[in-house]
Amino acid sequence: MPTDRKLAGVILAAGKGTRMKSDLPKCLHALAGLPMAEHVGRALRGAGCDPVVMVVGHGADQLRAGLPDGLYAYAVQHEQLGTGHAVAMAEVALSEFDGDVVIAAGDTPLLTDLVIRELVQHHGSTGAMVTLASCRVDQPTGYGRVVRDAEGRLQRIVEQKDADPETLRITEVNSGVYVVDAATLFRTLPELGRNNAAGEIYLTDLITSVVAAGGAAEAYCFSDEAPFAGVNDRWQLAQAGDVLQQRIRRKWATAGVTLEDPRTTFIDADVEIGPNTVLRPMTTLSGQTRVGERCVIGPGSQLIDAVLGDHVVVWQSVVNRATMATGSRCGPFAHLRPGADLGEGTKVGNFVEIKNTALGAGVSVSHLTYLGDARVGAGTNIGAGTITCNYDGVHKHVTAIGSGCFVGSNSTLVAPVAIGDGAFVAAGSVITRDVPPDALALGRARQEEKEGWAARWRKQWQEDNT
Ligand code: UD1
Ligand code: CA
Repeated sequence: MPTDRKLAGVILAAGKGTRMKSDLPKCLHALAGLPMAEHVGRALRGAGCDPVVMVVGHGADQLRAGLPDGLYAYAVQHEQLGTGHAVAMAEVALSEFDGDVVIAAGDTPLLTDLVIRELVQHHGSTGAMVTLASCRVDQPTGYGRVVRDAEGRLQRIVEQKDADPETLRITEVNSGVYVVDAATLFRTLPELGRNNAAGEIYLTDLITSVVAAGGAAEAYCFSDEAPFAGVNDRWQLAQAGDVLQQRIRRKWATAGVTLEDPRTTFIDADVEIGPNTVLRPMTTLSGQTRVGERCVIGPGSQLIDAVLGDHVVVWQSVVNRATMATGSRCGPFAHLRPGADLGEGTKVGNFVEIKNTALGAGVSVSHLTYLGDARVGAGTNIGAGTITCNYDGVHKHVTAIGSGCFVGSNSTLVAPVAIGDGAFVAAGSVITRDVPPDALALGRARQEEKEGWAARWRKQWQEDNT
């Protein structure tokens, strides 16, 4: 049988997810930085489904806004009348489509494209009109049970609520993932009734209808149940998150990244990491973070949409939407905020905060400093305790520091202000005017010494207290 039929996808994501006890629509809850529905979407697209229709209802606008642009066709299910009704909503979006439809729930984030390919393959090889993915589980409670006849042929699916005690003992369950011929699907859905304990239009009744009409329906039993785990509450969400993290950790470890303590290392789905990089314990890499080769990240570091070159060190620090070029380092306890851009070989030390500031190659900012809305030229040294006063209470202003400068400790640079190449700023200065290149700027009160003052003060103190 040919398996080169066209594939479309339908993801059911209209339900409220009452058991989540959440303000967010269930399928928008994120795992590894992506909404659950997007994990399912990736699996379907990865298996070749195009288009993929997302059936939304509860929190529809929120869901659309939370999913990537341009990847889905949307169908709205205004009233949640059941899974069968939800799939029927996708008919308009698929009116031109002729092939097989893969249906999955938006709350099964561990699905993979491999699983779907295998199911599609099996569907093609038997020539069935509908094939569902099933698996055997130790705890079937809550799932629809797969009922077969004496010859092992699929008869129907019985939901937990509708099952008699004998049926409840069946451990082969419906995973909620199906491949169906589109014409059969949309011809049969309108026939499905609501004659069940929930009063809903069950997608699972599609099987009964197809079998009753003499069509072939298959349940393909997978040996591994993990990809089908459904998330109905936040504990299941946490458990699915564990499984997903473990997959991601293993992927990077086998790609040549050292994870010193996988259990405390959290990596989002879209992160990229170069080989020979070491992730030390208690480290989180999230969003679109890119890490080069031979870096050392952690312990205790958090990278959010950070872009790092090779040989970068991030020691107990937070790097948020900032870039660090090859050979640069920060920490312990540095905070690189959005727009911090560290040039090659720069060194940022403890208790330093940098925001919207470009540091040229080889710049050193080693201790206790705030640089905001600044530019610092190559090779400049910023002394301990330097502060850019970039905000006047209304506007932000730029501090432009040239290359080869030496800014003495505890300097206050009141922006807008510029310091020319090669200039020195004396320690403790308050700089309010531009400094020409190669000049020395002193902006502090002149020191005075009063000879013998302390001795006179002590003598007076003794006289007064005896
Ligand atoms: C469903 C299956 C069950 C299967 C299980 C696997 C049915 C009747 N039952 O049960 O056989 O074992 O999945 O996880 O299909 N949804 C809508 N609109 C609706 C109702 C649901 O979009 O009107 C969406 C939900 O948002 C969810 C998905 O469909 O993403 C599944 O619905 P859910 O209520 O979780 O079904 P289960 O009870 O888990
Ligand atoms: Ca479910």
